Amino acid sequence: MGRLEDQVVVITGAGHGLGREASRLFAAEGARIVATDIVDTHVKSLADEVVAAGGRAKFLRADVTSEADMAAAVQLAVDTFGRLDVMYCNAGIPEVGFGAVSFEDTTLESFNRVVAVNLAGVFIGAQAATRQFLRQGRGGNIVVTTSAAGLVAYPGFRSYVAAKAGANGLVRALATDLGRHGIRVNALCPFHGMSANFPGAADDAPLDQSYEQLAGAWDPEHAPMPLRLDRAPNLRDSANLALFLASEESAYMSGVCIPATDGGTFARVALTLPADAQ
Ligand SMILES: NC(=O)c1ccc[n+]([C@@H]2O[C@H](COP(=O)([O-])OP(=O)(O)OC[C@H]3O[C@@H](n4cnc5c(N)ncnc54)[C@H](O)[C@@H]3O)[C@@H](O)[C@H]2O)c1
Repeated sequence: MGRLEDQVVVITGAGHGLGREASRLFAAEGARIVATDIVDTHVKSLADEVVAAGGRAKFLRADVTSEADMAAAVQLAVDTFGRLDVMYCNAGIPEVGFGAVSFEDTTLESFNRVVAVNLAGVFIGAQAATRQFLRQGRGGNIVVTTSAAGLVAYPGFRSYVAAKAGANGLVRALATDLGRHGIRVNALCPFHGMSANFPGAADDAPLDQSYEQLAGAWDPEHAPMPLRLDRAPNLRDSANLALFLASEESAYMSGVCIPATDGGTFARVALTLPADAQ
């Protein structure tokens, strides 16, 4: 019996990175998946892979900034698998320029674009799911990928930091509003082990690797995180937290934004102390 046996899950941003890895993991745990992304070839290859492995998956080209697309994603789940149990709002884009553009040169257009995908996209996906959950009348579960950038600032990522902090706020607000309907809402906030596709273009081939894996041989002594583990963090590390939030194991959690894959950076202040030289 899988940890998501027969659960029907819509995942956004499933073409690359964490959404792709989480789709594989959820399907292996018994979920029925609707994998969505703005690049349909990537979610098609993912769905083919899941089905070839004995799982159940459909795919759809869907943009999280479109109410019609998110309603269509939910409808595909209902038409194919009979209902929706979990909405995993995972899609996100980085700061335009990936931190290299100064604040004074940041255009309002690029700010609005980052907010549209990373914050309004969560609103739209969660709302489409909630409407279906209320029709079904037996609760529901919304999982959101935000970021460590929703908890602390990343240099040069002002629009992204604002959008992800907003998404964490939205998670808490929705949990407050929807608890009486049995709908819970939580976020994972990844730090490390995240998709090396993120700085690239949406139609780049899926790398299926974290930045740290792609960088080559892992040297714990030179890792950016103080926890000196003997392997690089990977996409599965965050996908495992998404699985926990999607499953009944987290049944009494709502409105929680969990720092994931941190490795100790969030646990200490950024001061150089004598102990660092040891
Ligand atoms: N990679 C990182 O550095 C990092 C770190 C922390 C959190 N995150 C967050 O993790 C989540 C997953 O990103 P990832 O790291 O796997 O990156 P990724 O770029 O590998 O995957 C993101 C996917 O979202 C899709 N997407 C982009 N815009 C979309 C839209 N408007 N509608 C639907 N799909 C869209 C892309 O095509 C891509 O397949 C995002 O919310 C991201 O902000 C990423």
